[in-house]
Amino acid sequence: MKSIIAGRFSNIKAQIALDAEAFGRYSDVIDLSIGDCDITTDPEIIDAAASDAASGYTKYGDPKGDPQLIKAIQASYKADYGIDLDESGILVTPSSCMGMALVMLAILDPGDQVLVLSPYFSVYEQQIELAGGVCIEVPTYEKDDWIPQSQAIRAAITPKTKAIIVNNPVNPTGAFYDSKCLRELARIAIEADLLVIADEIYTDYVLGASLKPIMGLEGMRERTITLNSFSKNFMMTGWRVGYVIASPSVVSVMQSINGAMIYTTPSISQRAAIKALSVHSRIRESYVSVYMKRMEYAYQRIKNIPFFSMSRPRGTFYVFPSIKATGLSSRAFADYAYDKCHILCTPGSAFGSAGEGYVRFALTQDISRIKEAFDRLEKLHFA
Ligand SMILES: Cc1ncc(COP(=O)(O)O)c(C=O)c1O
Repeated sequence: MKSIIAGRFSNIKAQIALDAEAFGRYSDVIDLSIGDCDITTDPEIIDAAASDAASGYTKYGDPKGDPQLIKAIQASYKADYGIDLDESGILVTPSSCMGMALVMLAILDPGDQVLVLSPYFSVYEQQIELAGGVCIEVPTYEKDDWIPQSQAIRAAITPKTKAIIVNNPVNPTGAFYDSKCLRELARIAIEADLLVIADEIYTDYVLGASLKPIMGLEGMRERTITLNSFSKNFMMTGWRVGYVIASPSVVSVMQSINGAMIYTTPSISQRAAIKALSVHSRIRESYVSVYMKRMEYAYQRIKNIPFFSMSRPRGTFYVFPSIKATGLSSRAFADYAYDKCHILCTPGSAFGSAGEGYVRFALTQDISRIKEAFDRLEKLHFA
């Protein structure tokens, strides 16, 4: 019998998925491993979506996205960043994961290289490889506050480099790239003729500053493809709705691929997204402040635990302390924390080689649970 699985998937890496079995082993597990929002979507958004479903939004929609949603996205970029978006440059996607996969399929020829600033959201690697590309890690370091260094990026560029993914603020490190850093990244992209794929899905989660989309910098509009999502900014991970902003020619290729895969983003999720944008300024603070309080709390706890070290995170809802003082690998630390105190965290090595020596805690539990987790963790001993 011929091999069932396609050759290109014979080497596929298992995704770091929730270990269902791990939960069964102990009754008091605190799961800080998954970046899924614990707060339910605002009731106004749910009610609006339910009522739109009842009035007939249960069918296929416009393949580019609900025209009302596209208008609402244009209005939000104008209001938040002063950026005018052309409607032909927006594609609504069923999540930014799917958006990134569509981007890679649309832009990569076999063997094209894409730079990722490591540690990075690990799904990028698969999205690049599924499209026939090659994922090239450019390490960033804690000593630089995880800010990418120009020399390292330049050293990784080859004639095959097509694009660089810039996730800001950064999952998993909690770093934030300010205007100076973004200008430098833009300069390199222009010099080396690279596309910038800007993953800006944590737009709202920046501490003490506000995000500037890299596409707004001089000379960057044509070479930037921006991904955004309703998942984190609106506590809507399960609705699977996001969007890509790109030049009309890229949008039209992505739309054609999207058409073959799903045709259109679920109508009902798009209706929820329209409502979400209309209530954004009113509801935003209620959950962002919750996550930012958790970040400050976790940072203070981590500072006082001798085997951890970390500088103050600047964004997202993740903390990424060093565990080098324990002498363990990040995988061994995660296993030990699970076995000894029933805390699930993600080893830094899951985010690329620059993540080794660190672990990620997703602050997606109530602060009382986070307190309990650090109370347990601080009792750990290492030989
Ligand atoms: C940096 C980053 N990009 C993309 C995603 C995927 O988001 P979505 O739910 O829109 O697919 C995540 C989810 O954790 C993420 O952390």
